[in-house]
Amino acid sequence: MSVVILGIESSCDDTSASVFRDEVVLSNCVANQDVHQAYGGVVPELASRAHQQNIIPVVEKAIRDAKVSKDEIDAVAFTRGPGLMGSLLVGTSFAKGFALANNLPLIEVNHLHAHVLAHFIKEDKDDNNQPKFPFLCLLVSGGNSQIVHVKSHLDMEIIGQTIDDAAGEAFDKCAKVMGLPYPGGPLIDKLAKEGNPDAFQFSKPRIADFNYSFSGLKTSFLYFLRDQLKVNANFIEENKADICASLQKTIIDILMDKLIKASKATNIKQITLAGGVSANSGLRNRVEELAKSNNWVTYVPKFSYTTDNAAMIAINGYYKYLKKEFVKQDIAPFARLEF
Ligand code: KG4
Repeated sequence: MSVVILGIESSCDDTSASVFRDEVVLSNCVANQDVHQAYGGVVPELASRAHQQNIIPVVEKAIRDAKVSKDEIDAVAFTRGPGLMGSLLVGTSFAKGFALANNLPLIEVNHLHAHVLAHFIKEDKDDNNQPKFPFLCLLVSGGNSQIVHVKSHLDMEIIGQTIDDAAGEAFDKCAKVMGLPYPGGPLIDKLAKEGNPDAFQFSKPRIADFNYSFSGLKTSFLYFLRDQLKVNANFIEENKADICASLQKTIIDILMDKLIKASKATNIKQITLAGGVSANSGLRNRVEELAKSNNWVTYVPKFSYTTDNAAMIAINGYYKYLKKEFVKQDIAPFARLEF
């Protein structure tokens, strides 16, 4: 018998709902929040209010698009954390209410595990292009930069992580210094395509083990621009593409250096990317190049499953459903939920 899961995601600034039948996605609806653009970053209170407006229409659409009836749903999976408390509260409260009203089991999902499991989303039941266990996942988003050792769907361990900023923050904060709108990552990616990645050099960290640091790069980038602008007030305008290409190359170099080390140390050659920054075209190309020279088998999720989405919550919920890992109605969201 098949299992139908409703997944709900509201950890940051995307309200999303998705319906799955077993491992196959039937619908995945995402409502983005443009309201934050004017502020150069996500404003938690505005995010929470927008989630409240979006949650019911998004869930309704996800169920309608999936062509299932509410009665067919077997369980509700929701993001418990980590994330913004006001945002998480909306999705959690909705999931609890929906489960209570329809007498369904509730499944809590860790947002970061869900990013890793995005690789198991099938668009049809014959889709068999999933990574084999064990694999390494480079999880890079606006809030995280981690190398995860994934042993099974529900057993994974962080073996390296950032000690300060995340890779996405490095993209976004450097973009802000350049006067680009939020989120800067996709814009840097676009501009970098026209630029010379070797035009400028920025500092790279020396951090132990498989850990990352991006705060030094951000500072070196800020000082570099400040010094150049003293000489030429149009420096950014005249060199935008080269600056973006050089910055992007530096971030990718930092990320890949530790991923190569982790692969060698664990002897794992199944390599996956996850999280919003894995949408970066330069990063995707580099991983493909490295796959050839390191005998890696690589997996990169579809763009729609790299940024926040409820499909990854529903697939995680599905695996937990099979193990009957349910939570009670007194569950509360947790902004700093551990991995
Ligand atoms: O996973 P995500 O949607 O949200 C969380 O952080 O949870 O990731 C968002 C991050 C932002 O920092 C955004 O700038 C970055 O992903 N991002 C990119 C690209 N697309 C999104 N960074 C670089 N290149 C991209 N193409």
